[in-house]
Amino acid sequence: MQNFEKQIDEILAKLTLREKIGQLNQQETPVAANAEAFKEQVRKGEIGSILMSVGATAGNDAQGTISVDFYNELQKIAVEESPSGIPILFGRDVIHGHKTVFPIPLAMTASFNEELVSKSYSDIAKEASNDSVHWTFTPMLDRSVDPRWGRIIEGPGEDPYLGSAVARAVVKGLQGENPSEDGKMLACAKHYIGYGASESGIDYHRTEISDYTLNNYYLPAFKSAIDAGCMTVMSSFNDVSGQPVTSSKPYLTEILRDRLNFNGFVVSDYDAVAQLIRQGVAGNDADCAKMSINAGLDMDMHDKLYLDNLENLVKEGKVTVDTIDEAVRRVLRVKFIKGLFDNPYCDKKEIDIEKHRADAREMAAESAVLLKNNGVLPIDKSESVALLGPFIYERRTLLGSWMLDGSAEETPNIYEAIKAKSKGSIEAVNGVDLSWDSAVKWANLCDVTVLCLGESWTSTGEHRAVSNISLSSDQLDLIKRARAAGKKVVGVLFCGRPVEMEGVADNLDALIYAWHGGSEVANAVADIIYGDTVPSGKLPMTIPRKATHIPIYYNITSSGRPVNNYYGENAGECYVDSIPTPYYPFGYGLSYTEFKYSDIECKNSELPLDDIKNGKGFTLCVDVENIGKFDGKEVVELYIHDNLASMMRPIKELKGFKKVLIKKGETAKVEFSLGYNELGFYLANGDYVVEPGEFTVYIGENSLTERKITIKIKG
Ligand code: BGC
Repeated sequence: MQNFEKQIDEILAKLTLREKIGQLNQQETPVAANAEAFKEQVRKGEIGSILMSVGATAGNDAQGTISVDFYNELQKIAVEESPSGIPILFGRDVIHGHKTVFPIPLAMTASFNEELVSKSYSDIAKEASNDSVHWTFTPMLDRSVDPRWGRIIEGPGEDPYLGSAVARAVVKGLQGENPSEDGKMLACAKHYIGYGASESGIDYHRTEISDYTLNNYYLPAFKSAIDAGCMTVMSSFNDVSGQPVTSSKPYLTEILRDRLNFNGFVVSDYDAVAQLIRQGVAGNDADCAKMSINAGLDMDMHDKLYLDNLENLVKEGKVTVDTIDEAVRRVLRVKFIKGLFDNPYCDKKEIDIEKHRADAREMAAESAVLLKNNGVLPIDKSESVALLGPFIYERRTLLGSWMLDGSAEETPNIYEAIKAKSKGSIEAVNGVDLSWDSAVKWANLCDVTVLCLGESWTSTGEHRAVSNISLSSDQLDLIKRARAAGKKVVGVLFCGRPVEMEGVADNLDALIYAWHGGSEVANAVADIIYGDTVPSGKLPMTIPRKATHIPIYYNITSSGRPVNNYYGENAGECYVDSIPTPYYPFGYGLSYTEFKYSDIECKNSELPLDDIKNGKGFTLCVDVENIGKFDGKEVVELYIHDNLASMMRPIKELKGFKKVLIKKGETAKVEFSLGYNELGFYLANGDYVVEPGEFTVYIGENSLTERKITIKIKG
């Protein structure tokens, strides 16, 4: 990457302290009444960045259409009228789509397809950058094992390795080789760190995370984003074990910069600097600003505490000019990398929206997970369909939360999508204004019943945790009554989170988990239902039998007295009243075709530790044969277990996956290598160790696979 330090030195030498602090200040787009005062602030050099939305929970509140002219006007004032002429950085929450809405990030993770995730984010960057957005607050990399948390939709689920793959893919898609190129945007890895561990799934709640767990479960995805070139990080609202991240030097400097080699800037979360008072560690506004800047937090989002306090703090000797200079340097570095000094304005271009819609349809199809199929899917186009449930005419919910710029009106609903493909009769009852009785009548009369079920987007997203993750009781009732009709019953779930599965899948012949899958999800679901697309998604999070089994995740360690519920070992002894095995495990998903795996082959099953340290690795492979009736894609998953280690290691941890298209009748050889980066783990102090000894390697179709082989690192 080009080095801009000399230019930055020259700029820094000319800036007044006030102008420097302005670079560290992010304010939101003003409402019309405040526009003139805001322009005046820009003129004075007080606005380093603009948050292009309004309100503390931008994903839940209606946001206006972006006015490119207005942002260009503000930029012109900054460049031509402010004393320093430094351009403003415009940031917006473009989380999983702009005009074209892709599936929620958790769903995209289910595609297990890095290339497709990258392509999706490249489309997103093209659309949003054409609307003045330089910088988006994504990827959200908060590992979480609590589906009650509304923000589970934004993240990569329960696994650090998969989260790291998604982090890389999103950063690559948004930024490309060089974020200054036309159509590219800056990424922001958030929320650093531990936010997904909010207790009870309640948003903004406290977290309790040991260093060992932090290093092995929470940090890897951030490391991956940084290694992929992500130049901004957003700190999280939460505390980790009593230490608010906003004011934590250990997290923001020692771990993020010294250990992960992050060289960009950190932006706070919305008003998080001011929230240090409520968190009980700062006594007043000045303390908030002092503690945050000294901890390594460079840009203050929205609360203006840097702008209002840093000058005085410098005068009082509580913050040094060097600290301010360093933060400004980081912000300017990112502005240079984005190319803002060469090209500060947005120059609108034609965008091929049709292509983006096609990509969104492909992404929605690959994100959908077929969880059950008693041979009823795909259905024949001539069959009559009873289309029932509360989501058949729904448009807005399909787009999910954190959707600021898409259009519900331009989102086909499932009724339209099924109707467009079917050659049989369609009887549709949404159940909102009719009793289930009339709906169930059609279940008796038609060949197939398709139940469109799920949860509203308003039960997901920021500040929208739920205490009950089951489908509503009327939907559970509808499932039972449709089942009783004795015809084929297919469920399609439009959800933002794993839902309690008991009482759902048991009463269905087939189940498609379609998530809040974006602008094209209805068409993608119709493609799957009629067999024009063969499903290939796999679960990025465990689906529990009962909500009371939360947290339930696959990468647990073994207990001393054997009750390893996930893997079925003495699971009946965990509770006296229920068996907490997963209903559907991590990595699970079916296809219309069938894949037959060979045994695992490993040519070099023993390697000396020194060789591993010097870059050698084990090569493992399986043959996967498509013995079914369709061409299909299979996600081949590799897990390891470190059989004897100095610390307890997970019973299984994902360390490789490949999604391969295998034509019917054909066999693919799928090869993995396991080396230094895969075989070690982090100690509590952050040291990464690879220890000699035996490892069990599993390769198969999901996390419960028992196809295994042993490899050995010789000490
Ligand atoms: C959220 C962030 C978001 C920011 C700006 C906060 O409330 O936690 O994820 O990027 O607002 O809208």
